This record gives sequence, C-alpha cells and structure tokens, in this order.
Amino acid sequence: MDLYIDTANLDEIKQAAALGVLDGVTTNPSLIAKEKVPYAKRLAEICEFVKGPVSAEVVATDYDGMMSEAEPLRKIAENIVIKLPITVDGLRACKTLSDKGVKTNMTLCFQPLQALMVAKAGAFLVSPFIGRLDDVSEDGMDLIHKIRQIYDNYGFPTKILAASIRHPKHMVDCALAGADVSTVPMSVIKQVLSHPLTDSGLKKFVEDYKKAFGG
Ligand code: E4P
Repeated sequence: MDLYIDTANLDEIKQAAALGVLDGVTTNPSLIAKEKVPYAKRLAEICEFVKGPVSAEVVATDYDGMMSEAEPLRKIAENIVIKLPITVDGLRACKTLSDKGVKTNMTLCFQPLQALMVAKAGAFLVSPFIGRLDDVSEDGMDLIHKIRQIYDNYGFPTKILAASIRHPKHMVDCALAGADVSTVPMSVIKQVLSHPLTDSGLKKFVEDYKKAFGG
C-alpha cells in the first residue's frame, strides 16, 4: 500500500519525506487555506520535495470552471494530479482530462457507485472518505471493501486512495482491505511508528547494554 501525507504544511511534508517511505501528497482547499500562502505557490513548493503524485484540487463547481482551473494547476509540475469532486460536472471533467492523459483524483466519494462512475471515466485515483462516514455513524471501511470488490470484478485500474483517515486502525484495515493508497495526516504517521512495548523494550536494551559494557 502506498503512503501519501494529507497536508499542505511544508514542515510536515519534509519530515515525512525524510522517512524515505512517502509516495505522494494530497491537499485540499481547506488544508492549503490553513497555511495562509498563495495556492499555486504552495503546490509548487510541495512538488519540489515530493516527486510522487501531488493532488491539487479545483474550487470551481461547474465543468467549464474546473477545466480552466485544471490547466494552470497541471502546469505547476509534472507530478500534479488534478483533484475534482465527484459530481455530474466533476465526472465530465474527469472524462475530458483522462482522455487527454491528465491524471485525476476524484474526491469526496461516499458511496460505491460514485467510485464505479469515476473508474468508467478513467480516473487515476478515487478518494473514499472513511472518517467522515464514521462521523455520521456509517461504516467507512465498508465503502473501501465494496469499491475494492467492484474494481476487482471488472478489472478497473483506478487506484483506491483511502482518505479521511483518523487513526492507525483505519490504516491497518485499509491495508487488509486492499486499498492501493492511504493518505494520512502527520499525527497518524507518528502514531503508526510508536508503540509502548517498543519504547519499554528499547529502554531495557539500552540499560542492559550500559550495565554490561558501560557508556
Ligand atoms: C483527502 O484527500 C482529504 O484531503 C482528506 O483526507 C480529508 O480528511 P478529513 O475528513 O480529516 O478532513
């Protein structure tokens, strides 16, 4: 399973990239707005650090607007993936861009047939939002399982990018369910790398070494 970081914060992106296991970045308008920097500038800065797919979302909600925003976004860098909402206009934009060879990430996916439609339109990635479904007492993981089965039934190459991940259990379940990518905040990357038994075990190893060999 590929690992993307879900942030527009450069320090977090640099920290995650330094781990050597970062495959890409997802941003959205809310994440970039939090950084209080110009939209395109921040995307260009991210693309300097990460050579894998970097999702850049349009904010237009109509087809023509999405198409005109996609053009400058994709010129920012070769690894930009155009992120579009799964709406009627978003689906049309996905088809037009995919036919031209432009990679898309279809976002705000909350039910399996949205994923089927964007796969038919040639999407590179689909982003089911697990945490936001859990927030409204639905089962986010069930959506991942259903999309995986539909894509496998018909051999769709669209990658399942599990999004809105809130904790390591979401990530484990995504890996078990066969999600192609998990995009996670830095807080979850840190949680994944921490376990109390690792900490206590390491402390004991170091203490025993010092007792026996000094230093
Ligand atoms: C994914 O592309 C989104 O940016 C993100 O995962 C949304 O997560 P949230 O529900 O925690 O805002």
